[in-house]
Amino acid sequence: MMTAQELVANVKNLPPVPHAALKLVSLLDQPGVSNSEVVQALRCDNVLTAKLLRACNSPYFGLAEPVSSVDQAVFVLGHQQILHIVLTLAFGSTMVVPLPGYAVEASELWRHSLITAIAGETIANDLVDLNVDPPVAFTVGLLHDIGKLVLGQTLTPEVQAEIRARVEHGQQSRSEAEKAVLGTDHSEVGALLLQNWHLSDDVVEAVAHHHQPVLKPRPRLSVVTHLANGIAHLAGSAPGWDGYAMRISNEVVERLEITPEQVEKLVITVRESFDHVDQFMNLA
Ligand SMILES: [Fe+2]
Ligand SMILES: [Fe+2]
Repeated sequence: MMTAQELVANVKNLPPVPHAALKLVSLLDQPGVSNSEVVQALRCDNVLTAKLLRACNSPYFGLAEPVSSVDQAVFVLGHQQILHIVLTLAFGSTMVVPLPGYAVEASELWRHSLITAIAGETIANDLVDLNVDPPVAFTVGLLHDIGKLVLGQTLTPEVQAEIRARVEHGQQSRSEAEKAVLGTDHSEVGALLLQNWHLSDDVVEAVAHHHQPVLKPRPRLSVVTHLANGIAHLAGSAPGWDGYAMRISNEVVERLEITPEQVEKLVITVRESFDHVDQFMNLA
């Protein structure tokens, strides 16, 4: 048995996330953040700025004139698109690390994270009125499974195989299997990592409870993350052997009065974004 603290303390190989990106994530959490604050946060980081401009000028965006400053980039592509690019660049390099033996390619986890991010943003925009800002929903989607990186880096192949066997043959969900073998799971571990990065309580909560979303006394951000993850799985994005075990909670469906038609529509929207996701993965 291991605690989440021990696991997080044992991670050695996660590349650091740029400070500017973490700053940006906390900014997003505050209501009414302005373009200039976003630009300011990015300006402090030359490397991230350079990568951002290179990404903006890549053929994918097809700009007639290349942009040469963050202000220009925000002006031409818009606040939201810039956030997508920055978060993708910032967390992409952290998340695409080799995962010895955890039966999920890092790039596959990264792809699933991007798809969940898009699902989250779509849900916050179209589906549920929980007062969640779409960029925040995007961010937590991107980060929800980051605990799997920690587990992938710290557990021995034997322990990982034992967890996997419980999911495949023992009717346990991945979280249940992790808890049975480790005493903790990837949600708790991921939340702790994000807490160490000083991300907001809401973001930490959303990651901590993405498999057991909090509905009482009021639905919290984890509800959106849970739904986004569920929609990503339904759309066919399941990292590795994880696909067997993910179901959207009935309680959430009932409480938010979500209809099968709404779910289907979300799944279609998310599927339509797959090309976009593949191109985004190439930006980093
Ligand atoms: Fe998960
Ligand atoms: Fe997930």
